[in-house]
Amino acid sequence: MSDTSSQLLYFYNRHPISLDIIVTKLRASRGHLDDLRPEELYAHDQDHYGGLTATDELARQARIGPGTAVADFCAGLGGTVRYLAHKYGANVTGVEFTPVRAAGAQELTRLVGLQEVARIVEGNVMDAPLPDASVDAVVSQESFCHVPDVKRALAEARRILKAGGRLAFTDWVANEPLAPADAQLMWDGMAIQPLRSIADYRRLVENVGFGVLSVTDLTEEWRPILEERLAMYQRLREEARQSGAPTGHDAFHESYIRFVDLIQQRKLGGVRIVAST
Ligand SMILES: C[S@@+](CC[C@H](N)C(=O)[O-])C[C@H]1O[C@@H](n2cnc3c(N)ncnc32)[C@H](O)[C@@H]1O
Repeated sequence: MSDTSSQLLYFYNRHPISLDIIVTKLRASRGHLDDLRPEELYAHDQDHYGGLTATDELARQARIGPGTAVADFCAGLGGTVRYLAHKYGANVTGVEFTPVRAAGAQELTRLVGLQEVARIVEGNVMDAPLPDASVDAVVSQESFCHVPDVKRALAEARRILKAGGRLAFTDWVANEPLAPADAQLMWDGMAIQPLRSIADYRRLVENVGFGVLSVTDLTEEWRPILEERLAMYQRLREEARQSGAPTGHDAFHESYIRFVDLIQQRKLGGVRIVAST
């Protein structure tokens, strides 16, 4: 296994949002997992910034509606896959690299009975396990930052999209080059690959043959969300410590504190890019 894969697995196998944590919380709040509704997962399974509102915006931009065939690149625990299937009536396939998360996503989907319309397959978006011209839309949220060759993942998105299909994604960007020590911290703590500027990202999308429809700088929008996330991770860590559960790894917490710092300084930021084949 490459260093890249093992670092990613190390990070996501210890991530503070996990199947175990979600199931523990649900059992604590409702006593059992019977007849669980998709909506009951929403407070727990969205591992991106801006929650459902951010996904609604991607859905609008990607023109997702009843019957739309959608691929979610880097699906995590499948929060977006289930939401798009349940709320919009789309037919969604999530591609997720980390086996524990792919299995967790499948289990959560089964628990809410959406497995016919919300599938999660274990795989790498640089070699997407989906046929050519098979989907109407590809979405992705805060995940390409982990992918060693984003151009290849974008080319895969293009390959699986039908003519006129849409790509709509959000991701981290570096508004200015990071100091080597910060870049190293992002890698050590969160398996983040070297990031690019918004202008470079746009060029990358164009270079694989997409026509860019819109580019939105999300840096200001993400700042308060990230501050709240840091507080949430610190709360989860404290709860885990008090209950004797694993508290995650220190490098993650250290790099997250610095990450929020870098966002506050606008050195790091976010972007939403929407493009068409
Ligand atoms: C920040 S999480 C986002 C999860 C999901 N998009 C959401 O919004 O809830 C990033 C996910 O990307 C996955 N991932 C990273 N690199 C990948 C790759 N090359 N192929 C597929 N999944 C990948 C990680 O395992 C992780 O679950």
